[in-house]
Amino acid sequence: MRILGIETSCDDTGIAVYDDKYGLIINQVLSQSNIHNKYGGIVPEIASREHMLNIFNLCKSIFKKRNNNIDNIDAIAYTAGPGLSGSLLVGATFSNSLAYSLNIPTIIINHLEAHLLSVMMEDKCPIFPFLTLLVSGKHTEIIYAHALGKYSLLGKSIDDAAGEAFDKVSKNLKLRYPGGPEISKISKFGTLNKYVFPKPMLKKNNLNFSFSGLKTSVINFINKKKNLNFQFKADVAKAFEQSITDVLVKKCEKAIQKTNINRLVISGGVSANTELRKKLKIMVQRYKGNLFFSRLELCTDNAAMIAYTGMLKFKLNQIDRNYGIKVYPKWKIYN
Ligand SMILES: Nc1ncnc2c1ncn2[C@@H]1O[C@H](COP(=O)(O)OP(=O)(O)OP(=O)(O)O)[C@@H](O)[C@H]1O
Ligand SMILES: [Mg+2]
Repeated sequence: MRILGIETSCDDTGIAVYDDKYGLIINQVLSQSNIHNKYGGIVPEIASREHMLNIFNLCKSIFKKRNNNIDNIDAIAYTAGPGLSGSLLVGATFSNSLAYSLNIPTIIINHLEAHLLSVMMEDKCPIFPFLTLLVSGKHTEIIYAHALGKYSLLGKSIDDAAGEAFDKVSKNLKLRYPGGPEISKISKFGTLNKYVFPKPMLKKNNLNFSFSGLKTSVINFINKKKNLNFQFKADVAKAFEQSITDVLVKKCEKAIQKTNINRLVISGGVSANTELRKKLKIMVQRYKGNLFFSRLELCTDNAAMIAYTGMLKFKLNQIDRNYGIKVYPKWKIYN
């Protein structure tokens, strides 16, 4: 069985094919980051226009190049939310039109559930139940994954997402977009404890996060400095990364204590951060547990996770043959 996955929730156009026998056989992402870079963040109108310009040709070229036959596809899984309305509409319209012309069903996929399940494509993957720290550009949540399709929220950011804080600090340091990889790279040259920033909500006895105050305090600190030389940027990046990763790790530790579940998954773009992975691994080992994460290209937005989740849903017969354009920009996976 073969599922075509289409991802257009934000600024990456992704196309993938997952085969239940051979695994992931195609995974292509066309990033728009160079286009949005000059604005220091994503411009929704530009994002949807770029998806429209690229999606058809990307799909066509993949099937042509690989000598793959699109007739072998059993269903098309597409991201229906959460995400930017315009971007989602492009993927949903394209997917439904193609599925209608091929007379195959569609499968609507929640982008966050796909992030959460992307680790299942790895050799080292958890069994249910497990905890997930979902840290991406727009979300920071700790989720209890009971079983496929059954999730509860344990805690979340009450303001900015961790990825957003990385992006804003990076912008103020005059680094490129997206900011996470930039901060991560430059922080390696920073001196530990040269600067110290707040660690918000660390002592609060719940599993929520708040990164807006940390972000503002770092930005105010940067703005006081006239000359942003390399060493200053590296030291600030280091201190910021220390604060944010310490908070993320502490809250995950509290979640393990609260639930007695010691299988922890990290997913979403910020899960690519090596400092975060290192600290979480050490913490989880203290609870005789395991940390699970995806290879780097499956951490940020991709269609492989959409095709894979689609395959799971297809097996449960969660398919759609109405070809209605379904888009849910604020779709949640828990109640
Ligand atoms: N190595 C890294 N360290 C920290 N942050 C990173 C790293 N790599 C990527 N990121 C951050 O990950 C975010 C992008 O992740 P992702 O693509 O999952 O988010 P999104 O799709 O925009 O949001 P969501 O999935 O919540 O809708 C960006 O904010 C980026 O800065
Ligand atoms: Mg994402």
